[in-house]
Amino acid sequence: MTAPVFLVLGGKGMLGRAFSSSLAYHALPFRSCDVDEVDITNEDAVRQAIFPGVRFVLNCAAWTNVDGAEKDEEAATRINGHAVGLLARRCEEVGAMLVTYSTDYVFDGQAQRPYRTGEKRAPLNAYGRSKAVGEELLERSGGRWMNIRTSWLYAPWGNNFVRTIAKLLREKPSIKVVNDQRGRPTSAEHLAAATLAMIDAGATGHQHVTDGGECTWYEFAVEIGRLIAAPGKVEPCTSAEFPRPAKRPAYSVLDLTETEQLIGSMPDWRANLAHVVKRMEA
Ligand SMILES: NC(=O)c1ccc[n+]([C@@H]2O[C@H](COP(=O)([O-])OP(=O)(O)OC[C@H]3O[C@@H](n4cnc5c(N)ncnc54)[C@H](OP(=O)(O)O)[C@@H]3O)[C@@H](O)[C@H]2O)c1
Repeated sequence: MTAPVFLVLGGKGMLGRAFSSSLAYHALPFRSCDVDEVDITNEDAVRQAIFPGVRFVLNCAAWTNVDGAEKDEEAATRINGHAVGLLARRCEEVGAMLVTYSTDYVFDGQAQRPYRTGEKRAPLNAYGRSKAVGEELLERSGGRWMNIRTSWLYAPWGNNFVRTIAKLLREKPSIKVVNDQRGRPTSAEHLAAATLAMIDAGATGHQHVTDGGECTWYEFAVEIGRLIAAPGKVEPCTSAEFPRPAKRPAYSVLDLTETEQLIGSMPDWRANLAHVVKRMEA
C-alpha cells in the first residue's frame, strides 16, 4: 500500500471531517479513518496504520463526552491519555510527526488573563485529567509532535453547541444559558486550516488554536440566535442554576500570541460563526 502523507484518525468526528475537506482542497494525499478501521487504543491497529512513508498523523480521535468522563474516567484516559502515548511511540519509530489535540479544560479556570502554552496544568474534571495524561506522555516521548489545545469546537455538522442551541431556539420560546464561563469558540474548519498552516510554519510542542475574541456561553448563544433569526429568546443564568456532572472552569481563554506570531491573526469568532451557520446541516 502506498503511504498517505497525512493520516487522519477519528476521521468521522467534527474535526476529522473538517480535515477531509481541507486536505482535499489543498490536493494533499491523505487517508481518513475512524474507530471502525483504526482503534487508537489497539496497538496492532496503530502499527498497521502508521507505517514508514506516513509523514503526519492528525489525531482527531478522542473521548469528548465531558460529563460522561466523570462516570468512566478510565475509558476516557485510555483514549485521551494512553493512546496518545502509543501514537507518539509509533510515530517516532517510523519518523512521522504526531499532531494531536487537547483542551482548555487542562487549566483550572482561576486565571485573570489568557492561559499561555507553558502554564501549569490543573484540570478540574475527569476529561481534563484524561487529556493531561496524554500531554504528559507526549512530553516524555522522543519524537516530533505538536499538541494543539483548543476550546468550544463547532462545525456545520456533528454534536456541538451551535447546532444544539439553533435547534432549541427554533423549538422553544426561551432557553437559559450560563453567563459565568468565559472562553473562546473555535470553528473546526478554521482549526483544520490553522493546523496545516502551523505544520507549514514548523510549529512543534504545545500550541493554542481557537477563533479570535472571547465570550461567555450566553453571549455565544445570543449571537447564534441573531444569525438564524430564531424566535426563541436566550436568558442568562449561572452555572449553579444549571448543575452538570463535570465541573467547568470559569475562565478558560487560551492565549494566542505565539500562534498569531507564526500564522497571523485568528479570525474573530463572530465571523467564523456566521460562515458556519450559513452551511449548518439540519
Ligand atoms: N468538541 C469540543 O468542544 C472540544 C473542545 C476542546 C478540545 N477538543 C478536542 O478536539 C479534538 C477533536 O474533537 P471533536 O469534537 O472533533 O471530536 P468528536 O466529534 O467527538 O470526534 C471524535 C472521533 O473519534 C472517534 N473515536 C472515539 N474513540 C476512538 C478510538 N478509540 N479510536 C479511533 N477513533 C475513536 C469518535 O468515534 P465515535 O463517535 O464512534 O465515538 C469520533 O468519530 C479532540 O481531541 C477533542 O478532545 C474538542
